[in-house]
Amino acid sequence: MNIKNGYFEKKMHEHIFKNYEAKDKSSLIPLLQDIQSIYGYLPEAALQDISDFVDMPLSRIYGVATFYNQFRLTPLGENIIRVCRGTACHVKNSSNILFAIETALNIKAGETTRDKKFTIEIVNCIGACSIAPVVTVNEDYYGRISVKDIPNILKKYSKVSKKDNLPQPEVNLA
Ligand code: FES
Repeated sequence: MNIKNGYFEKKMHEHIFKNYEAKDKSSLIPLLQDIQSIYGYLPEAALQDISDFVDMPLSRIYGVATFYNQFRLTPLGENIIRVCRGTACHVKNSSNILFAIETALNIKAGETTRDKKFTIEIVNCIGACSIAPVVTVNEDYYGRISVKDIPNILKKYSKVSKKDNLPQPEVNLA
């Protein structure tokens, strides 16, 4: 069954496909990477277009997309929390930090909250071992944190939506 795409999405996929040979199965991974670089994840409709283009069943495309950690099948949340589980952070109890964040947000690592506010990811050493255990939220680093710091950190990012920060158009009420 062909899944319906929006017109612009379809055109965008066709534009990407121009760089590849139709029915060339070896282009599957780069195609998935290209699509993910645009959407931040792999939407089902895009996977269907790839399936048609490389002439592979959609189920096999899903098989490949779920095999590799680099691919995501769901959109990222507005705030990406990365919990370092490298050795230095591990010995400083990063598993407790991860558990506290998962519990507070009621999701597991790799998942996104229903309101799309937060995604939790596990990462290996992020080069800040001297301040282990380390968590990053978007571009911000939080080092030497403990479980009791988690509520305040989450609160900070729960408050303001990035959309709320966009400049608002001036409204002339005259
Ligand atoms: S192990 Fe966590 S920053 Fe290096």
